[in-house]
Amino acid sequence: MSKKFIVFFTVILAALAMVAMNAVSEEAKKDEKNKPAHDYVGAKKCKTCHKAQYTSWLETGHATAYDKLSDEEKKKPECIECHITGTTAKDVLLEGVQCEACHGPGKDYKSPKIMSKKKWPADPETYKAMAVEAGLLYPTEEDCTRCHQKEGNPNFKEFDFEKRKGEVHAMDDDE
Ligand code: HEC
Ligand code: HEC
Ligand code: HEC
Ligand code: HEC
Repeated sequence: MSKKFIVFFTVILAALAMVAMNAVSEEAKKDEKNKPAHDYVGAKKCKTCHKAQYTSWLETGHATAYDKLSDEEKKKPECIECHITGTTAKDVLLEGVQCEACHGPGKDYKSPKIMSKKKWPADPETYKAMAVEAGLLYPTEEDCTRCHQKEGNPNFKEFDFEKRKGEVHAMDDDE
C-alpha cells in the first residue's frame, strides 16, 4: 500500500470513530434526560426561605392550574401533564405548576449546605454552580414552551417569554 493511501485510510477511520462516539454520547444524554436525577419536594418546602416568591406565586394561575381541570380531565394523562409538577410516577401528585416545574426538582439543591443565607452571598458563583449541579434550573424559554406550546394544549395562547417571565412571581429586587 502506498503511504498516501494509508494516511487517507487512517483519516477516514478516525472520522468514523468520531461519528460513532457522538452517537453514543447523544444516546447517553437522552437517557440522562429521561431519568429524574433528583426528587421533587413541593412548593411549601421553598416557602420557608422564599416567602415573597411563594406568596406572589400563589396568586397566579400556575398555583391553581390543576383545579382548572374537571374531575374527568384529572383522570386523563394527556391533560394533567402540563397542569401538574413532575410526574405521577411515584404516586405523588404535585398539583399545579409549582416552583419545581420551572426550577427543577429541589430535594438536593434546597439543602442549607448549598442554599445558605450566609455562604451563598459571599461567593455566589461557586454556590450557583453547586445548585445547578444539584438540579437547579434558571428557566429559559424552552423550559416554558414544553407547556406553552400548541401541541396537546386546547387553550393555547401565543407565548412571549420576554414579556411573561416577570409575571411568574415577585423577584427579590422588586420594591
Ligand atoms: C434553607 C433555605 C432555602 C430553601 C428551603 C430553599 N432555598 Fe432557594 N435559596 C436560598 C438562599 C439563601 C439562596 C441564595 C440567594 C438568595 O439569598 O436568595 C437561594 C437561591 C435560590 C435561587 C437562585 C437565586 C439567585 O439569585 O441566583 C433559586 C431559583 C431558588 N433558590 C429556588 C428555590 C426553590 C425552587 C426551592 C424549593 C425547592 C428553594 N429555593 C428552597 C434559600 C433556600
Ligand atoms: C402541552 C401542555 C398542555 C396540555 C397537554 C394541556 N394543557 Fe391546558 N393549558 C396549558 C397552558 C400553557 C394553558 C394556559 C393557556 C396558554 O397560555 O396557552 C392551559 C390552560 C388551560 C385551562 C384554562 C383555560 C383558561 O382560559 O382559563 C384549562 C381549563 C385547560 N388548560 C384544560 C386542559 C384540558 C382539558 C387538557 C386535556 C385535553 C389540557 N388542558 C391539556 C397547557 C396544557
Ligand atoms: C412558571 C415558572 C416559574 C415558577 C412556577 C417559579 N419560578 Fe422562580 N423564577 C422563574 C423565572 C423565569 C425566574 C428568573 C426571572 C428573570 O430571569 O428575570 C425566576 C427566578 C427565581 C428566583 C431568583 C430571582 C429573584 O430575585 O427572586 C428565585 C429565588 C425563585 N425564582 C424562586 C421560586 C420559588 C420559591 C417558586 C415557587 C414558590 C418559584 N420560583 C416558582 C420562573 C418560575
Ligand atoms: C408544567 C407546565 C408549565 C410550565 C413549565 C410553565 N407554564 Fe405557564 N402556565 C401553565 C398553565 C397550565 C397555565 C394556565 C393556568 C391557569 O389558567 O390556571 C399557565 C399560565 C401562565 C401565565 C398566566 C398566569 C396567570 O396568572 O393567569 C403566565 C404569565 C405563564 N404561564 C408564564 C410562564 C413562564 C414565563 C414559564 C417559564 C418560565 C411558564 N409559564 C412555564 C403551564 C406551564
